[in-house]
Amino acid sequence: MSYLPGAKIYVKLNNAWSQAEVGSASGGKVTTTNGDTVSEKDCCSYSAVAAQGLDDMINLDVLHAASILHNLQTRFDADKIYTYVGSILLSVNPFKPISIFGDDQIETYAKADVMAIKDGTLKPHIFAVAKDSFEQMLRDQKSQSVIISGESGAGKTEATKYVLKYLTAVSSKGGRKGAQLGAELSPVEKMIIQSSPILEAFGNAKTVRNNNSSRFGKYFEIQFSSVGEITGGVITDYLLEKSRVVCPAENERGYHIFYLLCKGCSPEEKAKYKLDSLTNFYYTNLSGCFDIENVDEVEEYNAVQQAFKDCKMTNMEVDAIKRILSAILHLGNAKFESPEDDDPCNLSADCAASIKAVSNLMDFSESQLSHSLTQRTMSTGGRGSVYKIKLKKKEAEAARDALAKHMYLTLFSWIVKKVSDNMKAEKPPAFSIGVLDIFGFEVMPVNSFEQLCINFANEKLHQQFIHYVFALEMEEYDKEKLGITIEYEDNKDCVELIEKKGTGILGILQEQCQLGARGSDSEFLNNTIQAYNKHKYFIVEKRSRTEFSISHYANPVKYETEGFLEKNRDAVNDDIRSLMDSTKMPEIKSIIHKKEDGGDAAAGARGRRKKVATVANKFKESLQTLVSVINSTTPHYVRCLKSTEKKMPGIFDGANMNRQLGYSGVLETIKVRLAGYAVRMDYTDFAKRFAILVGKVSGEGKAAASEILSKSNIDVSDTKVVAMGITKVFLKREAILLQLEKAREQFLLSSVLVIQRYWRREFARRKFQKLKEEAKRKAEEEARKREEEEKRKREEAEAAKRLQQYDQEEQSTGEDEGRERSTTQQNDALKKLNTNRSDGAQCTFLNIKDRVMVLGYTPMATNHRNKVDNESPGISMEPVMIKGWLAKEGSKGFTTGRFNNWQKRFFVMKKDRIVYYKDDSLKDKKGDFQLETSSSVSEIPESYHKNLPTGVGNHFFQVNIRGRSTKLACDHETEKEKWMDGISTAILQLKSGIEKVKTGADFSVHMPDRSVLTASVKTSNAKDVFLKVATTVAIQKGIQFFSLVKAYTTPDRLDFYNVFSERDNVADLGPYRLAFYRVICLKGRDDLSDPKLLAVEYSQTVRANLMFFEYDENDAIELAALQLKVKEGTINSVTHTRGFLSENLHEYMPDSQLMRYGDNAEVTNKWEADILNRAAEIEDTKKSINECMEEYITKSQENPLYGCTFFEVSMIREETDYAYILGVNSTGLHVIDRKTRSLVVSFPYVSIMRWSRSSKKFNFTTQGENHWTMLTKQGEEINKFMGIYVRFLLDNKD
Ligand SMILES: Nc1ncnc2c1ncn2[C@@H]1O[C@H](COP(=O)(O)OP(=O)(O)OP(=O)(O)O)[C@@H](O)[C@H]1O
Ligand SMILES: [Mg+2]
Repeated sequence: MSYLPGAKIYVKLNNAWSQAEVGSASGGKVTTTNGDTVSEKDCCSYSAVAAQGLDDMINLDVLHAASILHNLQTRFDADKIYTYVGSILLSVNPFKPISIFGDDQIETYAKADVMAIKDGTLKPHIFAVAKDSFEQMLRDQKSQSVIISGESGAGKTEATKYVLKYLTAVSSKGGRKGAQLGAELSPVEKMIIQSSPILEAFGNAKTVRNNNSSRFGKYFEIQFSSVGEITGGVITDYLLEKSRVVCPAENERGYHIFYLLCKGCSPEEKAKYKLDSLTNFYYTNLSGCFDIENVDEVEEYNAVQQAFKDCKMTNMEVDAIKRILSAILHLGNAKFESPEDDDPCNLSADCAASIKAVSNLMDFSESQLSHSLTQRTMSTGGRGSVYKIKLKKKEAEAARDALAKHMYLTLFSWIVKKVSDNMKAEKPPAFSIGVLDIFGFEVMPVNSFEQLCINFANEKLHQQFIHYVFALEMEEYDKEKLGITIEYEDNKDCVELIEKKGTGILGILQEQCQLGARGSDSEFLNNTIQAYNKHKYFIVEKRSRTEFSISHYANPVKYETEGFLEKNRDAVNDDIRSLMDSTKMPEIKSIIHKKEDGGDAAAGARGRRKKVATVANKFKESLQTLVSVINSTTPHYVRCLKSTEKKMPGIFDGANMNRQLGYSGVLETIKVRLAGYAVRMDYTDFAKRFAILVGKVSGEGKAAASEILSKSNIDVSDTKVVAMGITKVFLKREAILLQLEKAREQFLLSSVLVIQRYWRREFARRKFQKLKEEAKRKAEEEARKREEEEKRKREEAEAAKRLQQYDQEEQSTGEDEGRERSTTQQNDALKKLNTNRSDGAQCTFLNIKDRVMVLGYTPMATNHRNKVDNESPGISMEPVMIKGWLAKEGSKGFTTGRFNNWQKRFFVMKKDRIVYYKDDSLKDKKGDFQLETSSSVSEIPESYHKNLPTGVGNHFFQVNIRGRSTKLACDHETEKEKWMDGISTAILQLKSGIEKVKTGADFSVHMPDRSVLTASVKTSNAKDVFLKVATTVAIQKGIQFFSLVKAYTTPDRLDFYNVFSERDNVADLGPYRLAFYRVICLKGRDDLSDPKLLAVEYSQTVRANLMFFEYDENDAIELAALQLKVKEGTINSVTHTRGFLSENLHEYMPDSQLMRYGDNAEVTNKWEADILNRAAEIEDTKKSINECMEEYITKSQENPLYGCTFFEVSMIREETDYAYILGVNSTGLHVIDRKTRSLVVSFPYVSIMRWSRSSKKFNFTTQGENHWTMLTKQGEEINKFMGIYVRFLLDNKD
């Protein structure tokens, strides 16, 4: 490649890529305008799009480490720390808080459609990876894993915690699927979250590279039930760096827990555990580093204490842990002295207190402890005969450190296992999501056995990655005979070099360990060199006698072999073993007592030929298991990169980033993605999904897929776009799939309209039918009642006549007797009437914009004698009477398990008072409650039920008066509802403040705000008065909508249908129009919930239509669906703004008005004014139904919105809340701008062929094709598409 002067390029200077301009180029060298001269191979073309900071770098125009870094830096500078490379997420550590991890973000990701990740609507995020794995797990019914890698301080552990946070937030609680976001975490979820502080305290330490560096690897498996509920967790740990316990390097520290303990525990604990200042302990004092900036370790200590509790550790266990930790610190203070270095040593006198402390804390015998530090028991090799040798000073120090390390390592392994066991699911989980947070590739100034293990682990994981990304891809292409090959670097040989059974580097090491005392580090090196001096990945270090190098996939690393054997054996000598076993404290013993694990490393050291369980061997096995587990899951990869070594925000260290990129496998992934195909789909699945786009397909499988693609204008022969395999179709880019999906969605939307139209019509028809039947039944009933009443009157008249006759007869026989009889009869009649008057008082609560008005009338009274007629209809403020047995909680409260202070009492509810008696004789009053406006009655939350007694009635509620609650219980749910309803009604009455409503020629209503409304009624008919009051109040208050929230009645039925269906009376009300009411009506005492829809369509222009509809199941479905949609977030809200139903249903609809509830006062006022103006304008008297129909037809031709049913649809769109109104009428569906009320777009219906009422199945036609569709869950279907549909209409309106 030759670069032209003036061209923008990237040049590599000091291992970092920077932007430059070509000054001149010749002879393989480029000189930039800045004067730098570099070789052409250190230059590459400039990417124009990298400066935009693409979300997915697959789309970069120029692919090179330089453009990738440029793109990453652009994003980093804008605090965008996450970037995709295809399905891999790159995360750059910002070293500062970024507010993208809150609950709101979790909610956004959890609620979004999975396509939103693919089409770029959702920005790259660790939550997106978690979401993807969770949803894929449920979709594919397969376990997943998230593999997080990167070097120390790159952000792996933080990323792991975010994945756990997301999963615990979205997991379906209690097996209920769906978003219980924000719900409290279950105990096991809490344990999962709370395991982190414990693991970090014991396994993390401050290092120069990371203040919270994990010094072990972990695989955290979250276990799920089949519906996605978290049921448990399992933690597997890898290779804790135990040397850190005894010798943290300069500026580093040992494990956090030592520092937390010394700083955080109370004086009492300090005394108990013999803790002291950190400077007084040799191990913590060694590095001279005690604090971490900006970390409050006292607070952290408390957090760990809490975490212990949350993870179900017992107090005894925590005590044992603290004893061991303190004992380790004291052990470090053991000092030895000897006359000469090579002489046997003794414990110094000045460390006696420490030795004593260790013995006390661990329950060791002091002398055994001293012996195991200064002597070693040796076996002669003969039959069990042993002798002791005294250790030199250096050896004793090593023995001390070995004991300390061993104690810590056993403690750590025990804690991990304990936490893991405590949270492990009881039943085998259906699936799991494993999160791997493991040490990244490591190159230190001196690399020893630990680095070999770590780098070997990375080599294995890289192999797994290559296998997943490349090899499986290639296999698939071969299988499908696509004839595509992708070049990639396989690290198989390097892995084999290390792990090959018997002969690999680790095998040779094992062999030396096996030799016991005869094995040596130098022999190990010699044998390795001999075996591999020609190996591609092995480098012989000619100048050194102790080193060799391996050419790892990331970088070559030189290893120092001195100490390899000892580190690998990790032997604990018999003296230490028996010391550890000697403790009598059970908790300590259960932690440090080591079960034999088959091999015996010490045996190797003692020269016996037996299989030795070495560190490398165990590590190799656990890695093998890990890789098999990962291979059985669908993996998701997160690569963490460290922006700078300085642990500071705002620095993007190009050279450092370039180095890390090199071993992240990112470049290779891009290459394979570009060479390969992003989407593959089985032919049959493909045809099944997309056949809908082309109508009928003639062939099957491949032929069908080809036909669909061709008809969708995709050239099947263009391998840059699509490839046809044996069983699958391969699409190069995801965008092609998205294009097909979009077309499919549009098609479905147009179909759903048709469904909608038919469904609506059918729904209305059914309602109307029901209504008609109801009306008929009621009319018949009334006729029957009338007849009975007339009969009764006739009989009464006859009786009166007879009485008169008697009177006359008696006058001649005996007057006194006759008078007596007559009086008795009259008294009976009056008594009956009085009973009726009090029983029949009917009250109605009218809620007008939250003001409650009480109306009532006594229809029964009107039917009787003149004496009471002038009072009728009157207002009865008589309270609702409820009485019955309830159990009452005693005033002294109760103690759990003893409920003898709950007592059965007979309760009587009066107007605003509840009195309770010993029994139903009402003689012995035990107490009462006076209700007040601030009182309330409420359910007792389910969660509290466990505190409630059994056997006193299982239906609980409570009455709250002035902050005091009294708990009550009854035997039946209906009874409970009756009481709760009665009491809340009484409270409502108190709130209403209505004083009286008097009727006669004029009547007045005293409103809660002390205003008085008056109106005149010409009739004394109670129903007319009721209606008149309602209407007057509504109109005077300037309200078009009001809702009758609750009708309440004594045993006689209050029937709204009757009230409102008397059209002639309604017509008297004047030129006013009301619209819809939602009514919840109580028909009678025993029928407590009978919600209705009440439509009042009234004006003089058209005849009044007052209607009453069953509020039935379909409505409920519809409402539920609306709520569902609102929840999903596509639509903010959908409100049924106005329904219409009249005698001829959708064929007839009087002039429509848009009306709304809500807070947009400006619009509401305008509309209200409109309606009043219209009403005033109307002079016409009455019109027949036919005239109205004619009017409707004419008007609907003039105005497409005529006769619409309106839905308010408010959507989140382009950052602003956009509100639309959706009108549906017999011509189609219309979108109206909410502000201007102008029509945005109309969409006419397509024809419908046939509708089968019985089966809910119907047939409709679109674009010449017939479809059958089932109409189950119609409401849901319609509304599901409603929002998408509106969006679609708006998007496509041009
Ligand atoms: N997403 C992030 N936002 C802000 N700061 C972060 C983020 N990720 C990491 N950090 C910072 O970087 C530090 C190191 O991160 P972390 O401990 O996760 O690294 P690591 O990769 O686990 O390193 P090690 O291998 O040493 O354990 C954190 O303590 C935190 O200060
Ligand atoms: Mg970490």
